[in-house]
Amino acid sequence: MDLKAKIEESARFIQGRVSFTPRLGIILGTGLGALVDEIAIDRVIPYEEIPHFPVSTVETHKGNLVLGHLAEKPVVVMQGRFHYYEGYDLKQVTFPVRVMKKLGAGTLMVSNAAGGMNRNMKRGDLMIITDHINLLGDNPLRGPNDPELGPRFPDMSSVYDRELRDLALRIGLENGIYLHQGVYVALSGPNLETPAEYRFLIAIGADAVGMSTVPEVIVARHAGMRVFGISCITDLAIDGVVEPVSFEEIVNAARTAEPKLTLIIKELVRRM
Ligand code: HPA
Repeated sequence: MDLKAKIEESARFIQGRVSFTPRLGIILGTGLGALVDEIAIDRVIPYEEIPHFPVSTVETHKGNLVLGHLAEKPVVVMQGRFHYYEGYDLKQVTFPVRVMKKLGAGTLMVSNAAGGMNRNMKRGDLMIITDHINLLGDNPLRGPNDPELGPRFPDMSSVYDRELRDLALRIGLENGIYLHQGVYVALSGPNLETPAEYRFLIAIGADAVGMSTVPEVIVARHAGMRVFGISCITDLAIDGVVEPVSFEEIVNAARTAEPKLTLIIKELVRRM
């Protein structure tokens, strides 16, 4: 079965369970699932029920597709995402984005937990993603291209929507939430970085590092979607000083930042 047929089958399955057209897709990253509490939920579909969806293996990620309304706007939300380090290939990781687009979502909003490498950052801060660097060593668009899904050589000159970024900054200002802006670099993981790797990532112009987001964003742009991305800074690697960090600490830092992130995304959706 080719990719397009799989996308159509998944979308049909979901459409058979909801009575509205989602216009916005949202992916909630590690420890950032609380936004779901703000949604007037119409339907929760576990990933394992959806044809062709991979199944999440990380315990902190609930594997549900949530359909409903956020600030009165029809949304489709991934509560938990798929990571390359779990063993999925990037076509699997990004499949849900294709389905969101097929369902009617013209915009994708992505959140993640990331290591901060900018000296102004503190744990629990938020960073609006202005651009990214793909160091995954792989690409979700590798292989035959279906021109009906997007162009062979998609432009990446302005990936993160300017208007949405400006709107988010304004919302931050109005609510006393400081928002960094910077470049997100994606590595495959699952290990965190060595001090030498952090120095390298700072040298090539990255402000935050993580193990997700870039594949989904590449596919969203390929599909012609508007993109907004935001990182929660869960740990710091500044001046080459790298503190030991555990996954639990990352999740806890993300949880601390959750109320701020929830406010920003909800307001953004309201004003879109
Ligand atoms: N590195 C990579 N991924 C991460 C980090 C980090 O420091 N923090 C949260 N996700």
